[in-house]
Formats: sequence, C-alpha cells, structure tokens
Amino acid sequence: MRKLTYFVACSIDGFIGDESGDASFMYPFVDEEFIGFLTAEYPETMASHARRALGVHDLPPRRFDTVVQGRGSYDVGLKEGFTSPYDHLRQYVASRTLTESPDPQVEIVADDLLGKVRELKAEDGELGIYLCGGAQLAGQLRDEIDELVIKTYPVALGTGMPMFAAGFSVAEFALDEVRLFKNGVLVRTYSRKR
Ligand SMILES: NC(=O)c1ccc[n+]([C@@H]2O[C@H](COP(=O)([O-])OP(=O)(O)OC[C@H]3O[C@@H](n4cnc5c(N)ncnc54)[C@H](OP(=O)(O)O)[C@@H]3O)[C@@H](O)[C@H]2O)c1
Repeated sequence: MRKLTYFVACSIDGFIGDESGDASFMYPFVDEEFIGFLTAEYPETMASHARRALGVHDLPPRRFDTVVQGRGSYDVGLKEGFTSPYDHLRQYVASRTLTESPDPQVEIVADDLLGKVRELKAEDGELGIYLCGGAQLAGQLRDEIDELVIKTYPVALGTGMPMFAAGFSVAEFALDEVRLFKNGVLVRTYSRKR
C-alpha cells in the first residue's frame, strides 16, 4: 500500500489559513533555511513555478509521485494562470463543478473520491501520495490519511480554516519526527496508529 500524506502548513492554533483559506501570512517564514529543508526533503511539494524560480525544477521527487487536491486549493493557482501547478507529479483535482479539466496534465475526480484515493493507494510503487488540501478534502479523506507532516508557523490566528473540515472523532497518530527551524517553524511528522 502506498501512503497518503497530508503535508500542510498551519498556525500554532491549527488553522491552515484565514477563514477564506488564505495562507499568505505564512510566506515570510519560508526563508533560506526553510527553503533548503524543502528542497532537500520535499522538493516535489513545491509548485512548479516556485521550483523553476529556485532553479530546482529538475530535482527528482523524494517521497511522492502523485498529488491530490480539492478544487478550492487548485483555484488558488488557477487564478494566477497556473493550470498545472505540480507538473512534475500526477495530478488529481476533486471537483463536481469543473466539467472539463483546464489542463491535460490534471485529472478531475468528480465521482467516488474515496474510491479513487483507495485505488491510488493500492498501486505498486515506492513513492506515496501528497494530499495537498484543503480543509474540505482533508476532512473527507481523514480516515485514509496514513501520515501527517505539519509545518507549524509561529503565529496564532484565533479563527480561520481548520486543518480538517469534519465532524468530531478521535484519530490517533504517533509522533515520528520533529524538526525545529531558527525562525520558530516546527515540522512534525506523525504516522497513523491503525
Ligand atoms: N496551509 C496549507 O498548507 C494549505 C494547503 C492547501 C490548501 N490551503 C488553503 O485551503 C483553501 C481551500 O480549502 P477548501 O476547504 O475551501 O477547499 P478544498 O478542500 O481545496 O476543495 C473543496 C472542493 O473540492 C471539491 N470536492 C470536495 N469533495 C469532493 C468530492 N467528494 N468529490 C468531488 N469533488 C469534491 C468541491 O469542488 P467543486 O465545488 O468544484 O465541486 C469542493 O468545493 C485554499 O484557500 C488554500 O489556500 C492551505
């Protein structure tokens, strides 16, 4: 089985953005040290335009070969004209309203999202699946998540978009790794206790 990993940036109080999902207040924390970490450990989670800007577009993926995101998250790049935001990965966007894909590299999943994710997880392969978000998608796929990589930025928001838009239920995870950065960013990796 391939792993489904929710790799997400959040505030100290667990929000992935403001109430609309805007996470741009986190950008100042993406400094040289943190970019070095992303480039070395998770190069495939950087959007293609960022990889090109940093001159690392040719770096092979280290952990994921596939990305799954909701239309709300895909829209963020689409509004800037990025129709294929992760063109180094296989890309799936969940949407019932996008009747046609804006890009041949992006496959739209309109029906049976859970079935599609289970099918991807059942494929053979060393590399896993990057669940990009957002809250709605992560909420629906919470039970399928095998690993969490949570980048916590040192800000508290009071309110905002939660990590999971879902009802209350307790899902246990084991802490595998903690990385601390000079600017106060913390990256924790958890695996699902089954
Ligand atoms: N901090 C971070 O690391 C991070 C990461 C990712 C995203 N974000 C933020 O999260 C925000 C978006 O989150 P969100 O919760 O609003 O949206 P989302 O989860 O990205 O996408 C929701 C959309 O996905 C589609 N969808 C949901 N369930 C589906 C299903 N079962 N089958 C088919 N399609 C389905 C629907 O699209 P249709 O309406 O088209 O049907 C729905 O409107 C963005 O603002 C982004 O900036 C933050």
